[in-house]
Amino acid sequence: MTEAITFDPQQKLFVLRTHRSFYAMRILPDGQLVHVKYAPADPAVQPLRLSLLDEYPGSDWASWENQTRLWEFPAFGDISYHDAALKAAFPAASGLLAAQDAAIYPIRDLRPRYRRHEIRTDAIPGHSPAHGRSVRKQATARQTLIMEMQDIGFDFIVRLFYRLTPEWDIIERWAELENRTTMPVTMESLAFATIHLPLGEYDLTRTAGAWAREFIPVTQSLQQGLTVLKQQGLNTGHSINPAFLVQPRGQATPESGPTYFGALAYSGNWSIRFESLPTDPIRIHGGYETDDFALHLAPGERHTTPAFVFGVADDGFDGASHRLHNFARDYVLPVSVHGASRPVLYNSWEAVYFDMTVESQVRLARLAAAIGVELFCVDDGWFKGRRSDHAGLGDWVVDRTIFPDGLNPLIEEVKKLGMRFGLWVEPEMVNPNSDLYRVHPDWVLHFPTRPRTELRQQLILDFGRPEVVRHVHTMLDALLEQYDITFFKWDMNRHATEPGSVAGQEIWFRHVAGVYSIMDQLRQKYPRLEIQSCSGGGGRVDLGILARVEQVWTSDNTDALDRVYIQDGFSLFYPPGVMESWVTHEHNHQTGRVLPLEVRFDTAMRGVLGIGTNLDRLSAEELDTYRRNIAFYRKIRPIIEQGRLHRLAWVQDHGASAWQMVLPDGSQSVYSLVVVHSLLGHQVPCHPLRGLVPEATYRITDASERELLRLSGAQLMTLGLPGNHQHIYVKAGIRSRTVLLSRID
Ligand code: GLA
Repeated sequence: MTEAITFDPQQKLFVLRTHRSFYAMRILPDGQLVHVKYAPADPAVQPLRLSLLDEYPGSDWASWENQTRLWEFPAFGDISYHDAALKAAFPAASGLLAAQDAAIYPIRDLRPRYRRHEIRTDAIPGHSPAHGRSVRKQATARQTLIMEMQDIGFDFIVRLFYRLTPEWDIIERWAELENRTTMPVTMESLAFATIHLPLGEYDLTRTAGAWAREFIPVTQSLQQGLTVLKQQGLNTGHSINPAFLVQPRGQATPESGPTYFGALAYSGNWSIRFESLPTDPIRIHGGYETDDFALHLAPGERHTTPAFVFGVADDGFDGASHRLHNFARDYVLPVSVHGASRPVLYNSWEAVYFDMTVESQVRLARLAAAIGVELFCVDDGWFKGRRSDHAGLGDWVVDRTIFPDGLNPLIEEVKKLGMRFGLWVEPEMVNPNSDLYRVHPDWVLHFPTRPRTELRQQLILDFGRPEVVRHVHTMLDALLEQYDITFFKWDMNRHATEPGSVAGQEIWFRHVAGVYSIMDQLRQKYPRLEIQSCSGGGGRVDLGILARVEQVWTSDNTDALDRVYIQDGFSLFYPPGVMESWVTHEHNHQTGRVLPLEVRFDTAMRGVLGIGTNLDRLSAEELDTYRRNIAFYRKIRPIIEQGRLHRLAWVQDHGASAWQMVLPDGSQSVYSLVVVHSLLGHQVPCHPLRGLVPEATYRITDASERELLRLSGAQLMTLGLPGNHQHIYVKAGIRSRTVLLSRID
């Protein structure tokens, strides 16, 4: 099967082929664009008879069903009564109507019909990063099909984009609107894309949770009607993440069978709506959440939406995750000038909270460097007036009572110790108790005359005002200008309420655009800058933000056992190599649970390793264990970052989470097991491994460089790694292990 975009003018049929899938749609005689089929396809199988697969049964349907055509991008109006991907109001159509009627009859009817199409290799979705940093596969030109549609009456253009990433079976879709009329047009809803699944019954897997328990996987059946995942917010959200997996019921397992997947490249007001049509196909709309939404297009104006990234795997959840991980690694994540690997990080938050002094930071930095930390990040509490979370946000200048000589003495020490320096910021926020708010009380989101609700004593800056975005940019720019900061932890710690803005209902996407633009400008000017996305933990993780950050804070919950649930869910969609996890105190501050150090390391080593313990309180022996584990992590890090992840056991189903990361050539692999629930006497099964070379011999070593075993790939892939009862780490009823498998012949 050739990987390409083809058009058969006779059948008016478009076929988009990726390595192992195809997507087909056709133009009907009246110019409507309808979906035909989207499914996995084996490259070895000869061209499919697509005409036989057509799910649009023709025009002799009864009129009710005729209203359920599989439109590629269903518009409100027309003959549909279902959820629409876009809804426009042409309120000033007064030329067509008497003045008194124009006010009450805005024309809320849009009927885009095919006009022409083209294939390009330079098309990019809205909100694409403008920081100029390359991605790993920068040089790979990807084909994009652009379908141009025009309304039957108005000169209003709707362009649908389909960009193919054939090797990862991914299609990115987005839409562009162009108002060529002489009237202002208001969009009342707008999706990035609508996709259809073949007829059938499906189960949806996505994540759910809240602060401190983000990314918990949930599976539910999609029944007739609407299933809506959404976030009305200025961040991506803790409770639901804009990503999903859908499997035909009974036909798929975690490792096999067709699995449709999708994710939005956008960090604000989003929704994904699964609509089960009366005729049974599933239609998925992904785009802007429209509970409080308006997009105004003046004559001549255009709007390009961000992308809805989706694909289909023929090898279950693991196959879907594998494709999404590699798509992010190759085409989304910026390449860092500091090298391919994420540094081991130290973060001071749980060590000192707001009790920050320059002496304590220097002491922590020295200890951190001695155990092998590569990046030292000073968290909250360093800036003017910030002695608690009641004051200071908005005033991004160093607090001279804490750092009398500024940050430079600490930064110089950190650099002398061989580490890079990072700093926490929360640029979208302001405390009423701050110089900024005292001068500009009108710069926050609020409705005039109405109360302003504070959450964590803070309000949100109105990014609908260009002067606010400029001000925030200037403050951060000044920090980077003055100090050798190569890492920002960019935080965002509240939900959006009372969203009154000078931008009206456009504030939702304008805020996101403001955040992206500041990050992009800073990154462009300071090529050595890296960013960690944080929003009270994992509240801002999506494919939009990943295009401008190197890593994300996964959750404020640093309890190693809770973390395993979060990691299982996170890894469904996002690569472990961006998932920051910290080893913190034995007695966890959030849950109160006491966990042995080895378990804390075994969990934190599954992603970007961070240390958050107050190192000052540790014995020399404990520090030595930290040092040994960090050295081991640095050895296995390339496999964690670049390997293919196999989830051999899920904590929700098995009480244990077993991960295996394996390099594409099978030369090295990491096996990581954390047992969360088990009864005395329960033997943890040996999980057959994957992706190894059957005839090769592997040496298996642990964190102390101890050789445990030598075994063949074949044995490891059939019987599993022995010793889950023997080499496993057991203390206080908790069991875990991390081992490295290296091919030796
Ligand atoms: C948020 C972050 C934490 C920490 C605090 C500081 O909660 O998620 O990691 O940075 O803010 O106030």
